[in-house]
Amino acid sequence: MWEDLEVAVEKIAPDKMKPKPPEDNLGFGAYFTDHMFVMTWSREQGWHDARICPYQDLKMDPAARVFHYGQAIFEGTKAYLGKDGQVYLFRAADNFERMNDSALRMCMPRLPVDKVVKALKALVYLDREWIPSGDGASLYIRPTMIAAEPALGVSPSSKYYFYIILSPVGSYYGQGFTPTRIYVSDEYVRAVKGGVGAAKVSGNYGASLLMSENAKKAGCNQVLWLDACEHKYVEEVGTSNIFFVIGDQLITPSLSGSILPGITRDSVIKIAESWGVEVVERKISIDEVLGASNSGSLKEAFGTGTAAVISPVGELLYKNTSYLINNGRPGELSSRLYKEICELQNGYREDPFKWVV
Ligand code: COI
Repeated sequence: MWEDLEVAVEKIAPDKMKPKPPEDNLGFGAYFTDHMFVMTWSREQGWHDARICPYQDLKMDPAARVFHYGQAIFEGTKAYLGKDGQVYLFRAADNFERMNDSALRMCMPRLPVDKVVKALKALVYLDREWIPSGDGASLYIRPTMIAAEPALGVSPSSKYYFYIILSPVGSYYGQGFTPTRIYVSDEYVRAVKGGVGAAKVSGNYGASLLMSENAKKAGCNQVLWLDACEHKYVEEVGTSNIFFVIGDQLITPSLSGSILPGITRDSVIKIAESWGVEVVERKISIDEVLGASNSGSLKEAFGTGTAAVISPVGELLYKNTSYLINNGRPGELSSRLYKEICELQNGYREDPFKWVV
C-alpha cells in the first residue's frame, strides 16, 4: 500500500492567504503557514488519502481515542533559509525514523519515511516564503500522529491521522542564546524506565507542565529532571537533553530508557568528537554536578533540542541553594557548538556528516 501512496495537492486560494507575521517578534509556535500535509491510516487501507491542503481544522469525533487515552506522538524538526536563498532541512528523515520508534511504543502504525520526507519537501517548498531569514529564526516543522477512531475501549485505534504543520519561529527561549536559570526538581519526575520517556509521546509534555510552572514561580526558566527511582541521577532539562563540561570531558546522561534520544544530542556528540573532544555518555548524579561546581571543575552546562538548538545553563537552583555556572555566562564549547550547528543547518558550511538536504 505504501508504494501506491500518492499525494494530492490543493493550493490555498490567493485571497485566503494569511499575512506573514513580523519577523522581529515571532516567538515560538504562535503562527502557522498557509498549507499542511495530512493522511489517514486504517486497518483496511493502511496510509491513504495523503494531501497537501490549505491549513484547516481536523474533523474529529469527540469519542476519538486520542482525547481519552492520549494515543498521540509528535516530532520537531526545522527548515532553514540559507544565505544563498536555498531551503535546507536538517536530519528530517532521522526525525521520522524516531517517530516510528515512538509509534512502536504506542501501538501506532509506522510511517513510510521516504514518502513522508518527499511530502515534507513539497510542503515546505510550497510555503517557502514563510521561512524567516533572521538570525536563529527558522520554520519549525511539527509532524503529529493521533488516534482517530471513535471508541472508548482501551485498545489501539483502528484509525489514525498523521499531519505536518509549519510554524515560523524565533528562538525558543525568548532571550535567545543567553544562559537559563534552572530549577532542579527533587519532587516531580519526567519519566520512568520502562515508561514512555524515550518516546516522543505528547503526554510526556503535558505531565511536565506543573513542575515547569513551579520552576517559573521560583524565578527559573525550566526544570532539571532527575531519575524517578532515586531522585539522584540527571536525566533531561526542560524539553531538552543535557550536557556538562567537567574538566576536559563533555558528559551527557546515557540513554537509559527514560531519556529521549535527541537528534541535536546526537549531532552535538558527533561534532564534538570530530573536534577531538572526549565525549562520555554515562550516568551522572546531581551530587557530582554540584560537587564539580563547588570545586571549579564544572565549566559549562547546556541543553540541546531542535527547538532551542543549544541553550546554555547559567545557574542551577537545588534545595534553595544557587550554583552559578561559568559565572552565568555562555561557555566556550556551547558557543562554538551553537555556531557550528546553526551554520550547518543554514547551509553556510561544508556538511561532512551529510545531515543537510
Ligand atoms: C524540541 O526541542 O524539539 C522539542 O521537543 C521542544 C518542543 C516540545 C517545543
